[in-house]
Amino acid sequence: MTALIELRGATKTFSGGVLGRERTIALEPLSLAIDPERPRIIAVVGESGSGKTTLARLILGLIEPTEGQVLFKGHNVHALTSAQRGDFRQHVQAVFQDPYEVYNPFYRVDHVLMTPVRKFRLAKTRADAHRQVADALRAVGLQPGEILGRYPHQLSGGQRQRIMVARALLLRPRVIIADEPVSMVDASLRATILGSLRTMHEELGISILYITHDLATAYQVADSILVLYRATVAEAGAVEPVVKSPRHPYTQLLIGSIPRVSTERNWATEERQEDRRISAEGCRFAERCPKAMPRCLSATPALFQTEDNRAAACFLHADAAALPAGQLSKVLALA
Ligand SMILES: Nc1ncnc2c1ncn2[C@@H]1O[C@H](COP(=O)(O)OP(=O)(O)O)[C@@H](O)[C@H]1O
Ligand SMILES: [Mg+2]
Repeated sequence: MTALIELRGATKTFSGGVLGRERTIALEPLSLAIDPERPRIIAVVGESGSGKTTLARLILGLIEPTEGQVLFKGHNVHALTSAQRGDFRQHVQAVFQDPYEVYNPFYRVDHVLMTPVRKFRLAKTRADAHRQVADALRAVGLQPGEILGRYPHQLSGGQRQRIMVARALLLRPRVIIADEPVSMVDASLRATILGSLRTMHEELGISILYITHDLATAYQVADSILVLYRATVAEAGAVEPVVKSPRHPYTQLLIGSIPRVSTERNWATEERQEDRRISAEGCRFAERCPKAMPRCLSATPALFQTEDNRAAACFLHADAAALPAGQLSKVLALA
């Protein structure tokens, strides 16, 4: 079975500094597959700078991996034929944090909805196109009569974000990559937007990669969870057991601070790691870890599979077998 999306040892390193000599590892080798036969909502959780957006951009083909590959139906996303690219653009949709950037201020919002209908020939007639657009708006809790005909600045951020979800929905994608889709909208709308994503998943079998710094919403909406810490996977598995009894000290720290982190500011400013060592030696979390042991400073922990449906990259679980390469998706699919 060919995965819809597959990362094979994909990594991303950015160069920076005046001479381009400073390197930031934004994502350590990651292998992950999204299987169209088993739709899932997978949350990717981690603090600011942990590599979440880099992962989203890699999957969407917006940036090239430094090493490894990103595949769509078995084909490198950077070497698709034009027919494959059309297929990819339709079936892998993105919803980003700040929807305002996606809108052209000079066009009525109808434009962002009608363009994909036309481009992907989703409707036979104009009336059919309008009906589909209206249905998609209603599916995300918007009244077509209040939305159509308006300009982006005449709508609220929450309405604009819901229009983006409606747009993704119109295309009947197989996967939606949602990068912090609710972090710019107020709390009352969050539940509505996450609810529509959940409904789309359940009724249409769409897989969703839900990227967030907010563990509480991840728990509400996702089946499985991938916890990233400084470009590496700290813990992964079915959301329920991971949140109820986290195995990795970093996840434990996150869970312990849920009430505090529900206000984003604390979370975002908390210990933003600027000294991103290039050295591969040791666990990346060791310097903050209350349970660090001498070996944590000299060796990098594998992802140890503590149960069928979960794994943690921590030497506290070194008596469990290391998860074989490429098996991360198995652990995530067992939700
Ligand atoms: N275009 C870029 N150029 C240089 N560094 C980048 C770029 N994009 C991301 N980074 C760095 O990569 C790391 C991961 O960033 P990102 O994926 O945006 O994290 P997150 O979405 O989890 O906040 C950060 O240290 C960030 O500064
Ligand atoms: Mg981000």
